[in-house]
Amino acid sequence: MKEILESKRVLIGITGGIAAYKVNFLIRELKKMGADVRVIITGAGKEFVSVLTLETLSNNEVYSELFPKTGDKRIPHIELARWADCFLVCPATANFIAKSALGLADDLLSTVFISYNSNVIIAPSMNENMYLNKVVQENIRKLREGGHIIIEPEIGELACKEEGIGRLASIEKIIDWIKNVLIYRDEFKGKKVLVTAGRTEEPIDPVRYISNYSTGKMGFSIAEEANLKGGEVTLISGPTFLKPSSNIKYIPVKTAEEMAEAVKKEFLRNDVLIMTAAVSDYKPKRVSKSKIKRENERIQIELVKNEDILESIGKAKGNKITVGFSLETEDEISNSIKKLKKKNLDFIVVNNPLVDGAGFGKDTNVVKIIDKDENIESLPQMTKNELAIIILNKILKLMNER
Ligand SMILES: Cc1cc2nc3c(=O)[nH]c(=O)nc-3n(C[C@H](O)[C@H](O)[C@H](O)COP(=O)(O)O)c2cc1C
Repeated sequence: MKEILESKRVLIGITGGIAAYKVNFLIRELKKMGADVRVIITGAGKEFVSVLTLETLSNNEVYSELFPKTGDKRIPHIELARWADCFLVCPATANFIAKSALGLADDLLSTVFISYNSNVIIAPSMNENMYLNKVVQENIRKLREGGHIIIEPEIGELACKEEGIGRLASIEKIIDWIKNVLIYRDEFKGKKVLVTAGRTEEPIDPVRYISNYSTGKMGFSIAEEANLKGGEVTLISGPTFLKPSSNIKYIPVKTAEEMAEAVKKEFLRNDVLIMTAAVSDYKPKRVSKSKIKRENERIQIELVKNEDILESIGKAKGNKITVGFSLETEDEISNSIKKLKKKNLDFIVVNNPLVDGAGFGKDTNVVKIIDKDENIESLPQMTKNELAIIILNKILKLMNER
């Protein structure tokens, strides 16, 4: 993995946002991966990060001036635009976004920006009110429509001490996008991928439900990675605090019945179904119209089986690829093989939430993957993003074999 970006030329534009200091860490990581990095910084950017640090980390001159010094015959904006394999603007201020949406070219960065017509990635970062401002959103929409990749900022504590959307996306995510643009882009281009995530909630009365601890992290990771690889992604999820990227078609649902209905409808137009959702096996037979009162010593709630979505789909899957997840706390292999066969899956990912590093809400997972021929692959503990990539690569291989 070390030299994964060997000889790739990454041009980074830094603008005057408080998150500019994070670019130091980004450059260090890119250099470790073998990339050649050059930096353009705006006048405001220099207020936030030291040119000397950037030059030392990138091992290259840092560019800022549109007009070369007397005697220097180079035209920096043309040279830099020709040089780059990929152009990342990080952090991108509201000001830079507005200028680039209008096509203004009044400093080196904005001039290189409109001279460059290849792989552009923009990572905005700003205060929430700025980010949600209608004009800023309109400018972002224009840039996205122009084919540029926008890495949406995250929700969290902002430098202004407010909590909200606007924090620069994680360095890991930005590097994922760079790798994707330079190496993996388009592996899923033209492929339609349907992912389910999270838990379902089965109502008992208007204020209570039966559910489980699933947060949706695994399914969201798969959806995001498939999106990164150029797939047309639909994500159906039960209740969750997670937010998908805006170019993922998102269908929020609550109950197993709603999920089954949405999956059946969407499955027809998709090539792949990856079902990570922890769908409730049972639901209350009757849902009380009013809140059940605390009167009797005991009450009984009769449960009835929910439809097994994958089993219904497996019968008519044709040439499509279906992948299931199984959650077992005992006899995981034999139970999962039974599910694999019964649901006519291409492969099944077996979780045991009781294993260290696995389970609901965690960022890591420990799984085994069982294929149609009952080959079992035991994977070490890894992040859900890493696992998502392994699953998608497996699907890609199956698609290419067909
Ligand atoms: C302390 C401070 C922090 C700032 N942080 C941000 C920020 O995070 N995002 C942003 O869009 N603008 C921020 N600004 C405003 C920009 O620096 C300002 O709009 C500037 O004109 C941007 O210039 P540039 O886009 O050419 O780099 C900040 C300003 C100050 C004084």
